[in-house]
Amino acid sequence: MQYGRKLSFSVIALFLAATTLSSVTLARDVPFVPTPEPVVREMLKLAKIGKDSLVYDLGSGDGRIVIMAAKEYGARGVGVDIDPERIADGRANAKRAGVEDKVKFIEGDLFKVDLRPATAVTLYLLPDINVRLRPKLMKELRPGTPVVSHAFDMGDWEPEVTKTVDGATVYLWHIPARASGVWEYRLRTAHGGDEQHRLHITNQDIDKVQGTVTMDGQSFAIENGRISGERLRFTVTRSLNGATVTQRFEGRVAGDRIADMTVADSRMVAQRARPTS
Ligand SMILES: C[S@@+](CC[C@H](N)C(=O)[O-])C[C@H]1O[C@@H](n2cnc3c(N)ncnc32)[C@H](O)[C@@H]1O
Repeated sequence: MQYGRKLSFSVIALFLAATTLSSVTLARDVPFVPTPEPVVREMLKLAKIGKDSLVYDLGSGDGRIVIMAAKEYGARGVGVDIDPERIADGRANAKRAGVEDKVKFIEGDLFKVDLRPATAVTLYLLPDINVRLRPKLMKELRPGTPVVSHAFDMGDWEPEVTKTVDGATVYLWHIPARASGVWEYRLRTAHGGDEQHRLHITNQDIDKVQGTVTMDGQSFAIENGRISGERLRFTVTRSLNGATVTQRFEGRVAGDRIADMTVADSRMVAQRARPTS
């Protein structure tokens, strides 16, 4: 952690030095500092890039991330950069690598580009830019879309994976599904009984969820509620046959269904009865 912090500060210092040295005529939020090749490879591996992926690199510099995605993983890519020189470099490098039919470059502000077609997003920006970008990522990307960042995190949106490659830190998140609302399902108990459950997710703050589960008329607060991509997880502490037990709930939020819902060891499907307004 300490080492990571020191490293982040030195990377920020490098960025600031590069800003001072570079032209300030562009409305650039971040100067060009390329990601080393082994780090790019790890970012693409973490995001599970394959031939069906469409990778958006926001602030694409010389195009290396989308070019490697196309060349080594058969993916398509879109590089977005505000600097026309970087865009020209990206196009020339893509041509040299023989992937100009698989990647394209958009000259413009990354905050204004439509991200809806992306199946994965890569970033090497700055901490405050990442945090400013968060609402746009949440709004435009589909639940489950991987977002990978080199060197900088996303504030209080905790990464699912943090890896160190050649002294650089890489973070992975998945866009969380929207889980708010009232969900209903019946749970078959181990003794052949049947319990009616009502899960009310009252609040979702990025990947953290709060609410209650009502089981046969009794309500319990959900604990440790998290949603990573489509995967919803929480626990409930209740009294069963005189003993206090903590039950683990897990499921995959897919639109208005929670598929593969498991409560302790039982499996079922929950249906969204109504969304939260
Ligand atoms: C640190 S470099 C990262 C380059 C590449 N993604 C990589 O990892 O090697 C950041 C890039 O973001 C670009 N940039 C900065 N602000 C931008 C903005 N608002 N919109 C689009 N690109 C921007 C810069 O021109 C620069 O090329």
